[in-house]
Amino acid sequence: MARVAGRSGAGVRALLGKGAVGGEGWALARGDCLEVLGRLPAGSVDLIATDPAYSGMNNHMKFGHGRIVGRYSDPENDKWMREFRDSPESFLEFLRLCHRALKPDRHLYVMFDSFSLLTLGHLAREVFDVKCLVTWDKVRMGMGHWYRRQHELVLFATKGKRKLAHRGFPDVWRVKRLVRSAYPTQKPRELFEIMIAASTSQGELVCDPFLGAGSAGAAAIGMGRRFIGCDVGKRAIELSKVRLDAVSRGQPDPLQPGSLVPESTARFWQR
Ligand SMILES: C[S@@+](CC[C@H](N)C(=O)[O-])C[C@H]1O[C@@H](n2cnc3c(N)ncnc32)[C@H](O)[C@@H]1O
Repeated sequence: MARVAGRSGAGVRALLGKGAVGGEGWALARGDCLEVLGRLPAGSVDLIATDPAYSGMNNHMKFGHGRIVGRYSDPENDKWMREFRDSPESFLEFLRLCHRALKPDRHLYVMFDSFSLLTLGHLAREVFDVKCLVTWDKVRMGMGHWYRRQHELVLFATKGKRKLAHRGFPDVWRVKRLVRSAYPTQKPRELFEIMIAASTSQGELVCDPFLGAGSAGAAAIGMGRRFIGCDVGKRAIELSKVRLDAVSRGQPDPLQPGSLVPESTARFWQR
């Protein structure tokens, strides 16, 4: 992994405040994304790439709002994964806090399923300059009552004028989904590698306020960027800390040891 010279762990930990954990060039905090983003100094972050927890899909499937996702029968499950209270008001607040935290001329990526895109995605235009939606093609079908799900969407938006790293990025990304992941809703590291390659340079600071198992952080650190992230879940912080510790030491990613890119997919982001 490319080490980021001269960036001390204390430097990025200070951005997250008391209680943050981390290493050289990366830090994690347990807390609500709105509180943590609100505490960041304005204009302190180079990229926000995130995959929020939405309740829209669960509501649609009649699981009920606010239900804890994953390990339903586990009495400890309040430490596992909670849904973001994604009302239009809190989602707009989230977007405004992202805009405030970003430096000028920077990018934002927010992942959506179809339901959350229809109910919340349009709000991004009130805050950011929305450029396009990227389709994540998961290569294999998943669950679904009608058409079975094989894609998710990534909204790409800008604050100001920064361009992508080069002109060779398509708007469909073929990356296999994880089948038996350590964390529910864990995403392939390669999705974040594409966002980071397109929208940052070496040493820049990437932020994921819905950390989960730290896939964005593993991608960022592995690519020589700095990283900060937060999550409300204790388990998310514990897993991500172990993962980012390993990746920052140049060890294999313990939560995604192999590549999820099909052999037939060109690695357009690795030019
Ligand atoms: C879809 S998962 C992220 C998965 C992550 N991209 C990965 O690859 O592992 C969303 C995460 O948001 C967290 N979360 C839910 N509500 C939150 C909130 N209000 N603030 C911060 N994190 C929250 C959940 O605990 C969950 O870990």
